[in-house]
Amino acid sequence: MSSPIKILGFAGSLRKNSYNKALLRLAVQLVPKNAVLEMFDLEGIPPFNQDLESQPPQKVKEFKTKIRAADAILIATPEYNYSIPGVLKNAIDWASRPYPDNSLSGKPVAMLGASIGMLGTARAQYHLRQSFVFLNMYPINLPEVFVTYAREKFNEDGTLKDEKIKQPISELLENLVAWTLKLKKAQ
Ligand SMILES: Cc1cc2nc3c(=O)[nH]c(=O)nc-3n(C[C@H](O)[C@H](O)[C@H](O)COP(=O)(O)O)c2cc1C
Repeated sequence: MSSPIKILGFAGSLRKNSYNKALLRLAVQLVPKNAVLEMFDLEGIPPFNQDLESQPPQKVKEFKTKIRAADAILIATPEYNYSIPGVLKNAIDWASRPYPDNSLSGKPVAMLGASIGMLGTARAQYHLRQSFVFLNMYPINLPEVFVTYAREKFNEDGTLKDEKIKQPISELLENLVAWTLKLKKAQ
């Protein structure tokens, strides 16, 4: 049997009871049998400083090593002021540098997100897709997982209230794994 597809997941929130971290924890439970999902916490990644990009801080080195070892990436993004949170953009900026040493290049990627609002991170996710172009990542198109009104779907401690959100997350993961296998075959 071939080795499982390795997915690295990270959330663009440092909040302890983050809905987006909760989405990733759900994804860990729902990952297809032929894949494994490891979560990486962005806590401790300092603000990007281009003077340091050739000798990045230890946490960034660890992040880039994990990205390189992964077959695919899963990003759970909150929406901050109609875009992606600085914490997430900052981590992506580190991971993409120094040019041309972009650890994210060529990686299949899927995204999902939860917000307390009515659009469930749709605007943030389209901004993230825009960055995937320059990052040379290969995003899956569907399903789009926009978890709206997150307070109704999760308890305050991040445990799940609404079982219905499991189905689109399972579909997202199945599609990511299928897409990753397709790209591997094409190499
Ligand atoms: C700085 C800031 C900006 C926000 N902007 C938006 C926004 O544009 N759209 C939205 O739906 N929610 C917005 N929110 C509310 C978030 O949806 C909410 O804080 C959510 O819990 C963040 O995700 P998390 O639980 O994973 O930390 C904002 C929250 C913060 C702190």
